[in-house]
Amino acid sequence: MKTKTDFLIIGSGIAGLSYALKVAEHGNVCMITKANEDESNTKYAQGGIAAVMYSPDSYEKHISDTLIAGDGICDEEVVRMVITESTERVNELISWGAKFDKTSSGEYDLAKEGGHSEHRILHHKDNTGFEIERALLAAVHKHPNIKILDHHFAIDILTQHHLGIEVNSRTPGIECYGAYVLNLRSNKIETILAKTILMATGGAGHVYSTTTNPTIATGDGVAMVYRAKGRVEGMEFYQFHPTSLYNPGESPSFLVSEAVRGFGGILKTVDGKEFMEKYDARKSLAPRDIVARAIDNEMKTRGDDYVYLDCRHLDKKELIKHFPNIYQKCLSIGIDMMTDYVPVVPAAHYMCGGIQVDKNGCSSIKNLYAVGECSSTGLHGANRLASNSLLEAVVYGHRAALNAIEVIRNTNFCEAIPDWDAEGTAHPEEMVLLIQSLREVQAIMTNYVGIVRSDLRLQRAFDRLEILYKENESLYLTTTVSPKLCELRNLINVAYIIIKHARKRKESRGLHYTVNYPKGTDNE
Ligand code: FAD
Ligand code: SIN
Repeated sequence: MKTKTDFLIIGSGIAGLSYALKVAEHGNVCMITKANEDESNTKYAQGGIAAVMYSPDSYEKHISDTLIAGDGICDEEVVRMVITESTERVNELISWGAKFDKTSSGEYDLAKEGGHSEHRILHHKDNTGFEIERALLAAVHKHPNIKILDHHFAIDILTQHHLGIEVNSRTPGIECYGAYVLNLRSNKIETILAKTILMATGGAGHVYSTTTNPTIATGDGVAMVYRAKGRVEGMEFYQFHPTSLYNPGESPSFLVSEAVRGFGGILKTVDGKEFMEKYDARKSLAPRDIVARAIDNEMKTRGDDYVYLDCRHLDKKELIKHFPNIYQKCLSIGIDMMTDYVPVVPAAHYMCGGIQVDKNGCSSIKNLYAVGECSSTGLHGANRLASNSLLEAVVYGHRAALNAIEVIRNTNFCEAIPDWDAEGTAHPEEMVLLIQSLREVQAIMTNYVGIVRSDLRLQRAFDRLEILYKENESLYLTTTVSPKLCELRNLINVAYIIIKHARKRKESRGLHYTVNYPKGTDNE
């Protein structure tokens, strides 16, 4: 079965939804999403969205903070562009219905997070992402040109390869014509032809054993583009959030927002001693790579399973007002933030690298855009500044939309694309194989490619992953396609790219820390 659309969007988080609202004025939009329409990393964002709203903040300060967090390899032009568009894009989110908290004087109540020199995080209590997702979905539902197909899983994007033409990473002019999509209600694989395609599939936290990301975050977009020979960069920079709630057995891990530290929460070892001053003058509010590494070091040298976040000195009424969900979550496992320490550990949180795009969100593949966490724009460099990702998604959603609106005028559908060929794949999968392989990938990545790396660990990870790759590819070729099988394949691809990029970087920078090349040595 073939469907045609001007704009195909894969993913219904902030990136896909904000782009949809813009392009829908110029053509028909088909948005596919693999789970319920609101399920996304966006929905779980807590802290908020960074934007310059009032003095004493300024674009220059936000630019400087972003460049410092990125540890010398942000694209400064991109940083300037994104930050100077922040106010306009946030006001647009507000015009679409997103509500952010205000102070009694009517100004936005701006929070502070690690690496920010000013209060500049707009938030809706401690569930900002839920509010943004709600508002954008409501606006999208009202638009007659947008159709959302939930429980539709994108398997691969369509290129010349599907016309029988050999494509490799040096092939000039690779083009995207749409996607093969598994309809999870009918269990049929459909062909969606499109004039332009937006990849907005989010992150890949589940490549690690412990993550703050919901289960949809399996790196599907990056893997699809990599398989289609598009450019992917910066994958060695996987951000670990310093403070996920230590609650063994709970997956995904519940996040304790950095805004809690911005509000005065202090990190301590299990014997109640502060330790961050040993690592950085900004202490608990240093950029995330530094705080996560410090916690990891304290846990390893002391043999502890977690550190504490101490909030007992904070004003109870204000704490509950700002962080009602975090407070309730802690209470639900027997921790009262006002009287007890909160045990926290780092967890995989954000993919700084991804599908390489230019300032209009165009990937290296013609007619294929990438926006949001699956993309690599140059904004984050070696480490993302907190709350810059929701911002990046709306700025690039806007820019990609302006570009795609022009592109569809001169683009035709590629009618010659054949329907999916299921030849030879009649066997149902064996779940035990998939589950075991998934655990192995996550263990390899967590133990060898986590917060601290070494040449030997990366080599070992590479060798182990190769076995899993071969096993899974042969399974994929003979087995009926299912989301679990595809997600495992995608995670193996993503793990491979992370390891490959990490092995290439012969230095410690930002989130990529290796004991073989300590910070400050010149190893190029
Ligand atoms: P997502 O919101 O993840 O959406 C991806 C979409 O793609 C989903 O709808 C998914 O179902 C769909 N999808 C994926 N694969 C497929 C496929 N194969 N086929 C079909 N559909 C597919 N950032 C901030 O700036 N501020 C914060 O305060 C903040 N807090 C966070 C807290 C948590 C707990 C987490 C996990 C992240 C947080 N982040 C925060 C990061 C931020 O939420 C994400 O980077 C951002 O929401 C990503 O948006 P997105 O639209 O790119 O992807
Ligand atoms: C948080 O609230 O700590 C998450 C913010 C982010 O990831 O940007």
